[in-house]
Amino acid sequence: MNELITLNDKTFEIYLTEAEIQARVKALADRINVDYKGRKPIVLCILNGSFIFTADLVRHFNFPLTVEFVRYSSYRGTESTGRVTKILGMKSEIAGKDVLIVEDIIDTGYTLSNAVKELMRQHPASVKIASLLLKPEALKHDVACNYIGFSIPNKFVVGYGLDYDELGRDLPSIYQLKE
Ligand code: XMP
Ligand code: MG
Repeated sequence: MNELITLNDKTFEIYLTEAEIQARVKALADRINVDYKGRKPIVLCILNGSFIFTADLVRHFNFPLTVEFVRYSSYRGTESTGRVTKILGMKSEIAGKDVLIVEDIIDTGYTLSNAVKELMRQHPASVKIASLLLKPEALKHDVACNYIGFSIPNKFVVGYGLDYDELGRDLPSIYQLKE
């Protein structure tokens, strides 16, 4: 495993190893398994960043589930644009269903607070959020996150689904922008 990686013009250093991430994902899944016992939620993967976290989580789950994908866009390079555009919507009806949103990272919270508002209009039975990462110092919008993998400093990270200008999503570990 490399300690330093370069993507386009930026250098990143190792922050969370593959083993640390996998152990934490398993621990979150254990809690979620208890909470969703006897239910059949829609696991809602927020593309693109959450595809790996979702794939790892659902393989630990031991309740029946369906998976749906939505896509929003608010990031350009390493900064949030503060505007969220929905690019891809869901196929299924969510009225009366339990929805577990799976997100890679909560930064300002703008993306998720909007996503939850929109979901609520369709009257799901419940909505919970699992986010692998949370940047508490960046949070500006009210988001009730039920399952958090790691609280991290307000620095840009890549890997394990997260990208820098679409690069680095394939890395099994998470890297932090080197100052
Ligand atoms: P908000 O501000 O809406 O942002 O909570 C959430 C979305 O922004 C992306 N994001 C990042 N992507 N490294 C990334 O690769 C980061 O450090 C980072 N911070 C935010 C991410 O797509 C998330 O869904
Ligand atoms: Mg994302």
